[in-house]
Amino acid sequence: MSDTKPTGQAQAIPQHVAIIMDGNGRWAKKRGLPRLAGHQAGTENLRRIIRACVELGVRYLTIYAFSTENWGRPREEVEGLLKILESVIEKELRELHEEGVQLRHIGRLEKLPASLRTQVKNAIELTKDNDRLTVVVAFNYGGKDEIVHAVEQLIRAGVKPEEVSESLIASQLFTAGIPDPELIIRTSGEMRLSNFLIWQAAYSEYYVTPAYWPDFDKEELQKAIDAYGLRNRRFGSVDDENYKD
Ligand code: FPP
Repeated sequence: MSDTKPTGQAQAIPQHVAIIMDGNGRWAKKRGLPRLAGHQAGTENLRRIIRACVELGVRYLTIYAFSTENWGRPREEVEGLLKILESVIEKELRELHEEGVQLRHIGRLEKLPASLRTQVKNAIELTKDNDRLTVVVAFNYGGKDEIVHAVEQLIRAGVKPEEVSESLIASQLFTAGIPDPELIIRTSGEMRLSNFLIWQAAYSEYYVTPAYWPDFDKEELQKAIDAYGLRNRRFGSVDDENYKD
């Protein structure tokens, strides 16, 4: 995307919101439930937040559903998360399509079971012309892995050192064509990026809330957007009023 950005007050509604949906496990533990019950509750919440983004006029929503590091979780949990992705597509695709939602995937599909890979590809194909909201699902995604993948592509294409630029690298990321997120939200109070959109987040505004993901409702989303609207975005530059002799 563009290297120069206008500085100043943030727009009222960010066009791209990215969310690290954290705290499902703790939400479940607090209720004496298994971790997967937390992921189920988180999935139901995701459906509500997608609806809220459509209503608010957000154009891109990226969700961190499964990281390259999440394979290290207990087998039951990993299988449960794969199953959740499958059943979300089965149960929600038709309605999402009717609502004008486009689905995209970032990350590596190769490691997923063949039937799930086909399901994801079909969902992307079905919704590719929708333009109300693009939901970008980060599944088997890692920011470092994404950069490695981009470098591999460039080397394979025989790009010369003097041809390498920020925009050329961005064109090879899984997110090619998607504007960088203006706002990154993390639920459950943790203050780290956890290998999420590490290139694209260079000038994102961060918002962290103590709410666990299943409790992060439309009102919480509005609070995050309101906080974003108060930010002064400088992109490494200075405001005009601070630039006087
Ligand atoms: C982090 O909470 C959450 C995840 C690793 C999974 C997020 C997945 C969903 C909300 C389901 C929606 C998924 C799809 C595929 C559409 P955690 O388990 O690390 O919580 P904890 O830190 O409290 O243990």
